[in-house]
Amino acid sequence: NKPEPLKIMISGAPASGKGTQCELITQKYGLVHVAAGDLLRAEVAAGSENGRRAKQFMEKGQLVPDEIVVMMVKERLLQPDAHENGWLLDGYPRSLSQATALKEFGFEPDLFILLDVAEDTLVERVVGRRLDPVTGKIYHLKYSPPETEEIAARLTQRFDDTEEKVKLRLRTHHQNVEAVLSMYKDITVKVNGNLSKNDVFAKIDSVLDELLEQRKAGSGSL
Ligand code: AP5
Repeated sequence: NKPEPLKIMISGAPASGKGTQCELITQKYGLVHVAAGDLLRAEVAAGSENGRRAKQFMEKGQLVPDEIVVMMVKERLLQPDAHENGWLLDGYPRSLSQATALKEFGFEPDLFILLDVAEDTLVERVVGRRLDPVTGKIYHLKYSPPETEEIAARLTQRFDDTEEKVKLRLRTHHQNVEAVLSMYKDITVKVNGNLSKNDVFAKIDSVLDELLEQRKAGSGSL
């Protein structure tokens, strides 16, 4: 009997390392990565009406309204691959109303990972972040530099990755985080995100491993 696939949420301040850890988690555990920010940026890039509206909020570091985000995430979670392989939800829910909607749709996570990172580190991480448009991989000029000159030459920066904008995103994060945490406090694991990317992953990996072991043993709880 195949055990139920994992359903995980990962949360943390802007640039706390959610996307970076999701790359490592999906590589090892095969979960489907559903990132609210990525879904929104794809919509912006497609030039749709929703994308155009979403960008106005993203540029101010504010939450995009629920009528755009909630259905977008729900549709993605309902795809067969997420059902089959389990999911890793990144940057969602970010408000009590999103958490409540998710619960009403029947999406209940097994684990809520909270990455905890010092604020001055967050600004440095945002300003140095670069993305590879070909592979989607996340780099940092200092902490995760590109492997080749060819990759370095094609790296791009996100439109909201300035010191000024990350401060706005951080403020939005502080306004909402407690309400979301209160919904998941029984399944929350707080991880020190100040360490190197591999050390952060080692901690997450051990928690996921334990969860799977317990599941195989049939206890099903954390
Ligand atoms: P979103 O794209 O989710 O942005 P965010 O929450 O600000 O998070 P980031 O993607 O900036 O950072 P991350 O934690 O993934 O860090 P990363 O791994 O890249 O959201 C963008 C916008 O969309 C929001 O402002 C909002 O407007 C809208 N939105 C999104 N979700 C929404 C929702 N649910 N509802 C409404 N609106 C929503 O790492 C950052 C950098 O640090 C990288 O360069 C990386 O290489 C480096 N790094 C990572 N880990 C380490 C480490 N351990 N040591 C050293 N460097 C590291």
